[in-house]
Amino acid sequence: MINKKAMNDQMHPLSSSDTHPLSSLDVWEEDLLERYPDPETIAKGKTTEEYRNYETPGRDSVREFYRLNHTYQTFDFVREKREQYLKFDKKEMSVWDAFNFLNQLVDDSDPDTDLDQFQHLLQTSEAIRADGHPDWMVLAGLFHDMGKVLCLFDEPQWAVVGDTFPVGCAWSDKIVYPEYFKDNPDHSNELYQTKYGVYSHGCGLRNVQLSWGHDEYVYQMMKDYLPEPALYMLRYHSFYSQHREHGYDHLMDDHDREMFKWVNLFNPYDLYSKNPTPPDWTQLRPYYEDLVAKYLPATIKF
Ligand SMILES: [Fe+2]
Ligand SMILES: [Fe+2]
Repeated sequence: MINKKAMNDQMHPLSSSDTHPLSSLDVWEEDLLERYPDPETIAKGKTTEEYRNYETPGRDSVREFYRLNHTYQTFDFVREKREQYLKFDKKEMSVWDAFNFLNQLVDDSDPDTDLDQFQHLLQTSEAIRADGHPDWMVLAGLFHDMGKVLCLFDEPQWAVVGDTFPVGCAWSDKIVYPEYFKDNPDHSNELYQTKYGVYSHGCGLRNVQLSWGHDEYVYQMMKDYLPEPALYMLRYHSFYSQHREHGYDHLMDDHDREMFKWVNLFNPYDLYSKNPTPPDWTQLRPYYEDLVAKYLPATIKF
């Protein structure tokens, strides 16, 4: 068994608050749950107040995380990262080796997360399967956070996770902590500060660059293999300022609006499928091996 903490320290010798303010990537997702509590849990009598009352040790680190994310995710930064990562010349592995690789991200010091990254993916996909959705949506559930391997390539947390948002045009005030954009260099670019920026009305999200992170990376990785609705789920699952807040309707076209029905369908499975009882992998394995083989080649490129 790999000592994940030691490996983490070794892989991030420069680890500092500048690159890793969160004790684990899951802290970002726990904060999302506070912003968007499960409507069913609310229906069962737990109020939004109660959600906000529980101790959130990660709150300050989440603010710091967004400060960094909003300061450094510029139009040019996104272009650089696309050039660096979308050649897919870093690694080639089977899906199963990739899950093992991803699991190195578990941080032993985080008391809240006994479950590793793979368990979150499996719980998401199993919840989708239990509701009888198409098998490619199950697969989207299984892969949606695969792009977090970027952290293992030494990327800072703010360039891997966090809500995504368009770059090259004005930031919506619907983005979480919009005040932290004040130190972003794009703030002084007049064009980027207009409503449409480098884009035009209804140009379609395919023409819009979002902040760099695990969504775009996994979308590009899977784009030749999965049906389009699944690809929208992968590509836009962290785009909360649109799929939850509708801050960028003016950049969407009719096709995006059609496809975002799938993004919206997917989101609750991502946020609300966490369960302390891990699924029985031994029993599930044959189903998933068949499913992966149906859609994907023997190895994928990272
Ligand atoms: Fe994600
Ligand atoms: Fe997720």
